[in-house]
Amino acid sequence: MSAPQLVTTRAELRSALAGRGGPVAAVFTMGALHAGHAALVRAARERVGAPGTVVATVFVNPLQFGAGEDFDRYPRTLQADLTLLGEHGADLAFAPGVDEVYPEEPQVRVVPGPLGEQLEGAARPGHFSGVLTVVLKLLHLTTPDVAFFGEKDYQQLVLIRRMVRDVNLAVDVVGVPTVREPDGLALSSRNKYLDASERDVALALSAALRAGADAAGSGSDAVLGAARAVLAAEPDAVVDYLELRGPALEPAPLSGEARLLVAARVGKTRLIDNVPLNLDLPKTKG
Ligand code: PAF
Repeated sequence: MSAPQLVTTRAELRSALAGRGGPVAAVFTMGALHAGHAALVRAARERVGAPGTVVATVFVNPLQFGAGEDFDRYPRTLQADLTLLGEHGADLAFAPGVDEVYPEEPQVRVVPGPLGEQLEGAARPGHFSGVLTVVLKLLHLTTPDVAFFGEKDYQQLVLIRRMVRDVNLAVDVVGVPTVREPDGLALSSRNKYLDASERDVALALSAALRAGADAAGSGSDAVLGAARAVLAAEPDAVVDYLELRGPALEPAPLSGEARLLVAARVGKTRLIDNVPLNLDLPKTKG
């Protein structure tokens, strides 16, 4: 497939969208694209078909990085990103500079509510306000009928769904399952920071989630116990949280659908991962 049309200003984006027909599907990214992003673009293409338009954005959003986080060193690989976007069916790529998205310091920002302060939000104050603020802007700029987000950033997905509901945005939000390496490592642009031995350590996260999911038939204590045991065997993965929650990140139910989530630091890199699982009540003896 051919390279997508590259636009860098809001005016160019508006006129490029106006010149195309059919439903619009959006995929928002910070670049450094990998097979996980490719899956989002393919899902978008499939959803709108040949007559529709798939627009991808590539923008490293300063608002969602805290002081001392990796905004400056976040990988920027626009040429490779455009190739990947074209190969998987994007029509348009919007890659604006910071001044185009934030011509002035934004005074009005989205407040994510209590969930925005838990899990990732507890470790990264202000992060989800920055994410939701830019996602709201990108939704306004790209005017999609449907937008695709990876389940890898599960809390982000839940908060975006909630924002869309709470402020009545007319967009369908679709979550796409996490893409993994054959050994289980969840694809992430931040995996680029890991050296070979850190990558081995990082495997403890997905292994712990797998162990937890395998124990789902024995109830929530068994899930957490199995996952904790795997993480305890890899002290170089410094665990921030391991939590079992409901599908909307409410407290975990006793049975039924749930999410097991983990965050850990490996070297200087913060990694997150999660899996869906279906809890059964523990069997009673007798
Ligand atoms: O998931 C990401 O890459 C970012 O948080 C997003 C949704 C593009 C907003 O900057």
